[in-house]
Amino acid sequence: MPLLDGLRVVFSKIHGYGVVTTRPFMAGDLVVYGDGVLYQADAEFDDTYALILPGEDSGKGDPLFWDLADQTRWFNHSCDPNCEVRSKWDHEADTMRAWWVALRDIPIGEEITYDYAFTAEVAEACACGSPTCRGLIVDDDPDNLAQLPDHLRPLLRIPSRAAS
Ligand SMILES: C[S@@+](CC[C@H](N)C(=O)[O-])C[C@H]1O[C@@H](n2cnc3c(N)ncnc32)[C@H](O)[C@@H]1O
Ligand SMILES: [Zn+2]
Repeated sequence: MPLLDGLRVVFSKIHGYGVVTTRPFMAGDLVVYGDGVLYQADAEFDDTYALILPGEDSGKGDPLFWDLADQTRWFNHSCDPNCEVRSKWDHEADTMRAWWVALRDIPIGEEITYDYAFTAEVAEACACGSPTCRGLIVDDDPDNLAQLPDHLRPLLRIPSRAAS
């Protein structure tokens, strides 16, 4: 697997392996394009390293799971992320494209993070350590939070929404 420019896999303070920068990025910079393998929602596979992406444009089902197959698979979640992931269906190449963009200036050595915004059914305890950590890796849309399993509700640090 080729090294991705400006990125390096390390032990993370957040969880397991993570990815830090080896050069600075500026707000708005393209950080990296990911490489992945496409799975449809009914396929049986380990989705730990997959992006769940809208597939309406693809004609292949919706949503689509794009199993990350390069260093981007080690990007961790943060509730105060320094990147966001964007995606689109590439009709010519008949595949998904996904890429990460810097939300703010990122100095050398900072871990790359983005907001996984998990649905309530797959929410997990969050260890991002940010002052605005939601306590859970979860999309904070109130309709999504309303679906949280009871055993996860005590972990949620959004008091006004936790009860809804
Ligand atoms: C795509 S992997 C990221 C790489 C992961 N650190 C590893 O070493 O396998 C996604 C998984 O990493 C863990 N993870 C990522 N961000 C996390 C966070 N902020 N807090 C706790 N666990 C996290 C969760 O178990 C999540 O399902
Ligand atoms: Zn967090």
